[in-house]
Order: sequence, then structure tokens, then C-alpha cells
Amino acid sequence: MIKPEAVAAGHTGKIIDMIISNGFKIVALKYTRLSAEEAGIFYEVHKERPFYGELVGYMASGPIIAAILEKDNAVEDFRKLIGATDPAQAEEGTIRKRFAESKAKNACHGSDSDENAEIEGNFFFSGRERF
Ligand code: CMP
Repeated sequence: MIKPEAVAAGHTGKIIDMIISNGFKIVALKYTRLSAEEAGIFYEVHKERPFYGELVGYMASGPIIAAILEKDNAVEDFRKLIGATDPAQAEEGTIRKRFAESKAKNACHGSDSDENAEIEGNFFFSGRERF
């Protein structure tokens, strides 16, 4: 997912270009907006964390780009490409180093396991939206 602040700042095209240049195939892609309720469900695993309310409010604050990506070792390689959650810790050349504003407004989300990638892909896309 490309998050609201990165979309609003006009970084969508550059981020998608980095994703494709790094060998990911785009299986599904959508420009959409989460309601607060939907953002709450998407981030339910973080419900007990102190930043949950802020995260949900922020993720519903504007349109986002959702995508399903395919590659060998996709989960790990995509997390390397996006970089550390905190942009101050992210390595040069990562999406978060280039585009993130803060720990919360960190430009991009990547699934943390194959299992969650399946759940998160199904959250956004039907079977006929995948190619
Ligand atoms: P993401 O990869 O989308 O997964 C969970 C999100 O929670 C994370 O990126 C951040 O946007 C957010 N997050 C994690 N830690 C903090 C924090 N300390 N303060 C605010 N937001 C956070």
C-alpha cells in the first residue's frame, strides 16, 4: 500500500517505478480510500498498540494505492525495498528513506508474511481484479 501522505505529495509514480525496477510484477493495483472502520480492520493486529488510533485516523485521511505484488521471496525483498519503519533508520535507496515523513507517515506498507499478504490482498481485491 502507498500511504496517504505519499499519494498526496505526488510520489505514486516514482514509488511504482521503484517497485517495478526492483523486479516485482504487479498482479493487482487500485486507487481507493479506506474508511476509518476499514482502516481499523486492516490494522487490527496493532489494536493494543498506543499508536493504533493515530494510525487508523491517518490511514483513512486520504486516498491510497493498494497493490498485490509477485516475486520470488516477495515479502522479505519488498520489506528490504521499503526500508525500516522509522525513516530515520531506513537505508539509502529505500522507499521510506526517499519518501517517508515520519514513523506513522511512512509512505508505504508491506505485508510481514505470506499469510498476511494473502489476507491483505483479499481485503482489497476480488479474483477478477488480478492478472
Ligand atoms: P506499517 O508497515 O504500515 O505497519 C504498521 C504501521 O504502524 C507502521 O507501518 C507505521 O505506519 C505505524 N507505526 C509503527 N510504529 C509506530 C509508532 N511508534 N508511532 C506511530 N506509528 C507507528
